[in-house]
Amino acid sequence: MLELTRKLRPPAPEPRTEPLGPIALLRVLLNNPLEAWTEAHFQKPIVTMGLSIGRVAVVSEPNAIRRVLLDNAGNYKKDWLQRRVMSAGLTKGLLSAEGNQWRMQRRALAPMFTPRSVATFAAPMAQAAQAMVARLRAQEGKVVDLAVELTRTTLDVLERTIFSDGLGRDAEDIRKGMRVYFESVGRIDPFDMLGVPSAIPRFTRFGIGPAMRLFAAAIDTVIAKRRRRIADNPNAAPHDILTLLLKAEDPHSGRRLSEQEVRANVLTFIAAGHETTANCLTWASFLLSQSPEWHERVQSEADREAGSDARNLADRLVETRAVIDETNRLYPPIAAISRVALGPDQLAGERISRGTIVVIAPYVLHRHRSLWHRPDEFDPNRFLGGAREHVGRFAYLPFGAGPRVCIGAGFALQEASIVLATLLRNFSLVLSPKHSVWPVQKFTVRPKDGLPMILQPRA
Ligand code: HEM
Repeated sequence: MLELTRKLRPPAPEPRTEPLGPIALLRVLLNNPLEAWTEAHFQKPIVTMGLSIGRVAVVSEPNAIRRVLLDNAGNYKKDWLQRRVMSAGLTKGLLSAEGNQWRMQRRALAPMFTPRSVATFAAPMAQAAQAMVARLRAQEGKVVDLAVELTRTTLDVLERTIFSDGLGRDAEDIRKGMRVYFESVGRIDPFDMLGVPSAIPRFTRFGIGPAMRLFAAAIDTVIAKRRRRIADNPNAAPHDILTLLLKAEDPHSGRRLSEQEVRANVLTFIAAGHETTANCLTWASFLLSQSPEWHERVQSEADREAGSDARNLADRLVETRAVIDETNRLYPPIAAISRVALGPDQLAGERISRGTIVVIAPYVLHRHRSLWHRPDEFDPNRFLGGAREHVGRFAYLPFGAGPRVCIGAGFALQEASIVLATLLRNFSLVLSPKHSVWPVQKFTVRPKDGLPMILQPRA
């Protein structure tokens, strides 16, 4: 068929023709793992190799992925590297818990992330988006780093949805603690990559103790205050995630979350939910700035829909959502999900031995030559109308799948839709001239050196 429009091919490293040697590979993995992938990864159903951390199998065949994440999920545990990196400071939260503790928490927390419950957070999300517009209007004519602004916005959404009555006297301690936390604990330390025992201190985490202690103490104060408020009058407590956490109960055992579990999950939601969603929004803004067609389409939809009531707004933002889904395909914030095999198995025709690290890399899967037409091109039409039905459940995994699928997926998609539409309703997005964007993976996939943009106010 004759292609009438040339599609945008956004920046991405060229797959290598040959795998790197061990030292060069370690260097690339520490700097930007996206640059390590080879042509074979984007073409074959499974690629296995031996690394210093053990045997690794990168799986990109949807049935095999389904086996790892769902059908035989009991044989695959979150691996030590992922757990160490993601759970530093988050022990006992949903992301890092295992076994019975995870099951109990997942059952207790599920009701707060149902579509009905998430819909009740549309209003605070819209308020955070409006606050962002006000901040951006104050910087009119200047080059702004939109990556920074969007990160501030996603933190604001979490602040408003978790602590709807504010952070009280300790607000600045909490915000400072959060910054320190995410600049250090949430980062991959080279020692983690090398498998250095956790008893050896990480230099990227030196000196964070006092700020972290202040942070934890300030959060505990907010939680204790809310607990007293609920005890005084359960019906008068504000409707937000903190109240839901304190009231959450495992339907099987009737058990409530412990003090430590409540705090760990507050931190987990902030850690798992802010940088991921901010990067999704940052990439979507970049892609729109490069695609006049979709910039126009999202703007018209925002003009039509985004001025009205925030309730159900995300459901009406169909084209905006297609852009977000396509953004999460090309630049999945979580570029790789990993598990370790507890026992032998067979995946995509290959024998998997006990202890193998199985990597499912949405970044590779979403650009796999056998699964997508013109995989490196930006085309949100893939997610519109009937086309969406052709996207395989296990070929598109920005939020993972199976029992450990992202509990916040609906929350993140609603938030991203509302924030992106609000941004486009108020501004036209122009990338700062001469800036070239390059994706790097540092915990999440983000543009190297941020996203300097000139935001042109609309009437
Ligand atoms: C675009 C935004 C987001 C992306 C791309 C994303 C991606 C993911 C992925 C891939 C996983 C599965 C990891 C695995 O299987 O190893 C996950 C798990 C998780 N996510 Fe998200 N996430 C996002 C937003 C959020 C938000 C907003 C929240 C909370 C408010 C959240 C909370 C969690 C939690 C608690 C888990 C662990 C679930 C469990 O193990 O039971 N995420 N996320």
